[in-house]
Amino acid sequence: MARSLTVHAFAKINLDLRVLGLRPDGYHELRTTFQSIALADTLTFTRVRGPFQIECDDPAFPGDHTNLIWKAAQRVLALARRREQPSGIRVRVEKNIPMQAGLGGGSSNGAAALQALCRLWKVKTTREELHHAAAKLGADVPYFLEGGTALGFHRGDLLVPLDDIDPAWVVVVVPEFGVSTKDAFAWWDQAKEGQGVRAKNVSNDLQPLVAKRHPIVGKLVRTLIKEGAFHASLSGSGSAVFGLFSRRADAQAAARRLAGPRTFVTPTLTRAGCRRLAAK
Ligand code: C5P
Repeated sequence: MARSLTVHAFAKINLDLRVLGLRPDGYHELRTTFQSIALADTLTFTRVRGPFQIECDDPAFPGDHTNLIWKAAQRVLALARRREQPSGIRVRVEKNIPMQAGLGGGSSNGAAALQALCRLWKVKTTREELHHAAAKLGADVPYFLEGGTALGFHRGDLLVPLDDIDPAWVVVVVPEFGVSTKDAFAWWDQAKEGQGVRAKNVSNDLQPLVAKRHPIVGKLVRTLIKEGAFHASLSGSGSAVFGLFSRRADAQAAARRLAGPRTFVTPTLTRAGCRRLAAK
């Protein structure tokens, strides 16, 4: 029986994001295109004696039951109809995906933990059961079970896989502040009351609302386009902004000129690429 298992949990960007309305459950009806990128956290699951533990060098990363990895462990036990609390595993997280950035780091960790713990605890599930468990963890957790290029409807959890986009290089710039997804959607609700939410030439409906509170966001999008990106936008509810480039050298040159402590150059990943690299 393997003592440990190491997996990579990839980040995503939203190539576009339309908010279509408020749902009766308080969530928002979305239409968004998810795209995996190679920026990833590394999660190592090791069998230990004693309680479930989550370890990370980043003190801001919660190590308790509020962490989606912990919640994933509870979901896996529930799928196995086991009533006990998670135990016997230490999860070491090498955190590379910035938090509160709209890059799906927490959700990706949750999806990776669901799959890894099903393997380690030998819990057999159908695809539907796993998808359902993922959707309970968070609206975009199911996407991370698939990866690649996919359309997300409903809360972002009804997925339609798309053909992979042509490979591109992504410059991701993460400002020093984070944005809470809940807050960004509340700003959308407020703006809707005053109507006129959708701005021209903006592919993410949350971008103008975030840029209004944090003008650097709009500035970064404009700078990325000026630097030669063929597409640039806020990712999810931010705070990360990304630009797409066909050539790596152009992406690197743009990143150098943008020079910030949290600027990354990373390729897009296909669905097959996500699968192949996840367990490497
Ligand atoms: O599902 P998750 O916990 O990731 O969502 C965080 C928050 O973002 C929700 O509590 C909700 O306020 C908001 N949200 C939303 N509509 C969505 C996804 C998220 O209103 N489709």
